[in-house]
Amino acid sequence: MTEDFDVRLVEDVKSYTPDPAYRKNAWMPDYQKAYAEFMKNPEKFWEAQAKELDWIRPWDKVLEWNYPYAKWFTGAQLNITLNCLDRHANNSRRNKVALIWRGEEGRERIFTYQKLLSQVCRFANALKKIGVKKGDCVCIYMPLVPEQLIAMLACARIGAVHSVVFGGFGSAALNMRINDAGAKVIITADISIRRGKAIQLKAIVDEATVDAPTVEHVIVLRRREPLVDLQEIELDFHEMMAGMPDTCEPEVMDAEDPFFILYTSGSTGKPKGIVHTCAGYMVGTHYTSKNVFDIKENDTYWCTADPGWITGHSYIVYGPLAVGATVFISELTPDYPDAGSYWSLIEEQKITIFYTAPTAIRMFMKMGEEWPDKYNLSSLRIIGSVGEPLNPEAFEWYYRVIGKKRCPIVDTWWQTETGMIMITTVIGEPMHPGFAGKPLPGVIADVVDKEGKPVKPGTGGLLVVKSPWPSMLRTVYKDDERYRKYWYTIDGVYTVGDLAVKSRDGYIMILGRSDDIIIVAGHNIGTAEVESALVSHHAVAEAAVIGKPDEVKGNSIKAFVILRVGNKPGDRLRQDLLHHVRSTLGPIAMPHEIDFVDKLPKTRSGKIMRRVLKAKEMGMDPGDVSTLEE
Ligand code: WT7
Repeated sequence: MTEDFDVRLVEDVKSYTPDPAYRKNAWMPDYQKAYAEFMKNPEKFWEAQAKELDWIRPWDKVLEWNYPYAKWFTGAQLNITLNCLDRHANNSRRNKVALIWRGEEGRERIFTYQKLLSQVCRFANALKKIGVKKGDCVCIYMPLVPEQLIAMLACARIGAVHSVVFGGFGSAALNMRINDAGAKVIITADISIRRGKAIQLKAIVDEATVDAPTVEHVIVLRRREPLVDLQEIELDFHEMMAGMPDTCEPEVMDAEDPFFILYTSGSTGKPKGIVHTCAGYMVGTHYTSKNVFDIKENDTYWCTADPGWITGHSYIVYGPLAVGATVFISELTPDYPDAGSYWSLIEEQKITIFYTAPTAIRMFMKMGEEWPDKYNLSSLRIIGSVGEPLNPEAFEWYYRVIGKKRCPIVDTWWQTETGMIMITTVIGEPMHPGFAGKPLPGVIADVVDKEGKPVKPGTGGLLVVKSPWPSMLRTVYKDDERYRKYWYTIDGVYTVGDLAVKSRDGYIMILGRSDDIIIVAGHNIGTAEVESALVSHHAVAEAAVIGKPDEVKGNSIKAFVILRVGNKPGDRLRQDLLHHVRSTLGPIAMPHEIDFVDKLPKTRSGKIMRRVLKAKEMGMDPGDVSTLEE
């Protein structure tokens, strides 16, 4: 696991320092000072962050740490929507634009803070009317439209626990998430629109709810004429809102009440329902939105993620709205109608802060500079990246072609589990391509060996977080054992699951996952999930899945399949298997290659050695194979 790196690799790195004006005007003008203040008194530091927000009742204690369980701001009462909506709508930001949505063919919808609050309250009242109560789980499976955000905020308003499922997941993946969380209501849409084509979202919900005993209602946003017919338990999104009052008393939430569940891939076939709670999540996402993206009153902020991922939860919805930002969202893909779509939107909307993923950046690199060069990108002030390592080549391109050597890049490292950004280079600090940066004030992180001892600069090791932080996951839904594993893999610290290396001056480079998770185009895919989808096909006896480096997507999925007797390998079966994975897990988990094989490398105890498959595939030394059978 711990590979030795050439120390020069981390010491001779390039350095870029943005214009000093950035630092001077930033919310966090002095990283060192802020970090020192945090270390002097961590609780006081977080308390000061919490004081920037509105509370129904203040906390008695900032932190109760009972390893590995943390409670933050105990005794406090709050509702996050008071900070994301009312605080702005009832004050000077009443008529400020909260949300701009752009669909295909120039369609645009704009919501001021006042209007967004009214819509959220009306939908919250509609949910209440059909019996949704505090603590009930609501599954949101929607395209990237304003109603998706309204649905999330309405759940938050009434204390319902949302579980947002990305609209690109297939029916089996959706069904598993509905049943694991025991969702009472599903909110969906008839279609989502991708590259000019309609995708039948509701058809996937129909399939996913055949066996979903807890579901009482399905709410459908009907976007297309003629309107789809609704069945008995189905309700129309906008009809439900019609006639509802536009005010709704926020549910009083305790600091540690569950806020939402979000599923993420793990190293078993079953995804983990990451549980976040109310107060700490609010404080962590507000603090990082404000200080990492340096959001100011006149910014127009665009994060290209989908609210179905944690990036969307924290940095489209809750964080930026808590700060009072103008948030831009778009249902367009980066390559439709052409490879200039994102740049044309930046020019059209005068976007000032842009946050996207390395896989998109690498795709843009491939398409050529002529696309961004056609547009005026001079409104941009800060550009960001998240989801996987931003390799130096991609950094350089992003910095030069998009940021015009003017905009600082924030390469932000974090996870569904962390809730908030943990490591980055704060605006104004020197940037080193390839390195995400240092732990934010509020975070203690390090690179260690298997025993938890810090490794020498330049040596690879495991990334760990050494103390609790407010927006950390509190448990894995109905599986606390998996939660404890994060904190007991190495005693006393939170083991992230990533390999990293640190430079002498404390900058951290993320190298990739240390477990059986493959990051494909920024999406976490568990090898076990894909394997069990393959094995659920009648022709498959056994399957093993590996990640292969891919120029654009970071990794691609390769599957090795052993067929049951009586099945013939061939292109037809290959297509059939691909279709099967697509319809169960969704297009994001589809293998790029399938090889039919007679046997798989296994340990004597029967565990598939994916490492051996991968080494063979890439023409590398498989390393220690002493446990390999025969
Ligand atoms: C994993 C978490 C958090 C938002 C999106 C993904 C990888 C994330 C970076 C980065 C290198 C990164 C890690 C991490 N990752 N950001 N800036 N540099 N790697 O959330 O789906 O929970 O995935 O994504 O491997 O553990 P997630």
